[in-house]
Amino acid sequence: MKQATATIVKPLPDHLFRVHGESAEMRWEAMSGVGYHTPNDRFFVRNHTSTPLIDATTWRLRVHGAGVRCPREFGYDELRGMRSRTFDVAIECAGNGRRFYGTQQHDAAPGTQWGLGAIGVARWRGVLLKDLLKEVGVRPGAVDVLPTGLDAPFERYGHVSRPLPIDKAMDDVLVAYEMNGVPLPADHGFPARLVVPGWVGVASIKWLGDIEVSTSELQTPWNTVFYADVTTNPAKSAFELAWNARLPVGGPHILHGRSWSGRGRIVRVEVSFDGGASWREAQHHGRHLVSTWLPWHIAWTPRRTGAHVLMARATDASGATQPLVTPHHPFGYHFDAVVRHPLDVVTG
Ligand code: MTE
Repeated sequence: MKQATATIVKPLPDHLFRVHGESAEMRWEAMSGVGYHTPNDRFFVRNHTSTPLIDATTWRLRVHGAGVRCPREFGYDELRGMRSRTFDVAIECAGNGRRFYGTQQHDAAPGTQWGLGAIGVARWRGVLLKDLLKEVGVRPGAVDVLPTGLDAPFERYGHVSRPLPIDKAMDDVLVAYEMNGVPLPADHGFPARLVVPGWVGVASIKWLGDIEVSTSELQTPWNTVFYADVTTNPAKSAFELAWNARLPVGGPHILHGRSWSGRGRIVRVEVSFDGGASWREAQHHGRHLVSTWLPWHIAWTPRRTGAHVLMARATDASGATQPLVTPHHPFGYHFDAVVRHPLDVVTG
């Protein structure tokens, strides 16, 4: 497959200044009081190699393959000139929560040891992939759509690339160029990335350079070697609190958190302050949207000082409630068990 090359921009424009370059986790206490969307500077980064700095003036997105009638390239201004759509969508790594296989279940899984911070919700603006594909004419025999990133090849596996079935590609997938009202930051895929609502983060290919539409099923290391059995993530819940946060005894304290699931809207959130012996329902606020998170809060008055454990569990529209234990997974995907969040209650 022909690959366009990524070029380095000099001098760096504003949106490229703050670059993590490599993977970085979002801290949940940093979401406290910041509203619905994850600010761009706090959004987790998951890179297989490192962030490329791409010059939008020479960048081209090539759309081609046996499933396309008129292959062609799109430039950045051309993409921005097309009819746009704006969605609130979560991106969550399939390995989010992996650390708890080890720390809670004594069954450590290899890979990045994410806590619960490999998720973020942003307002994405861009062109629907189906509108882009209509421009090149999709043949009736189209089967898969293969987006490929312009970041450096990962080990011996090549450029990051993972096929989507044509039905999903023609549904709600966005070729995004804006994140929370500004051009995509370099770490999050500038100049354009896919945003695949409800699906594991690896589907949302960053630094898009190439989209192939095939007439047969495609395989890449990202649907065979890695992420082989994952499409959506199960429900999870997190408190907007530091790990080992300190709270003064008494109160009441209003504790905030968020729950989400790639398998449907969150319909109920319950919290336990006594190690799971009893559960109280949390209050939801905001809209119950699919493919994002649901913010909630609950009042709590701790009566004694010392170590405490907070637990939150969500139920999604599929009827699944977060369990106390997630079955073993060799790569640490699918973690959905209730996370035991430690907290220290101190004299006020
Ligand atoms: N796209 C490219 N080109 N290269 C990558 O390394 N990582 C994927 C996906 N898209 C990746 C990529 C993974 S595993 C995840 S979880 C999301 O990007 C993370 O998106 P973010 O860094 O904007 O949070």
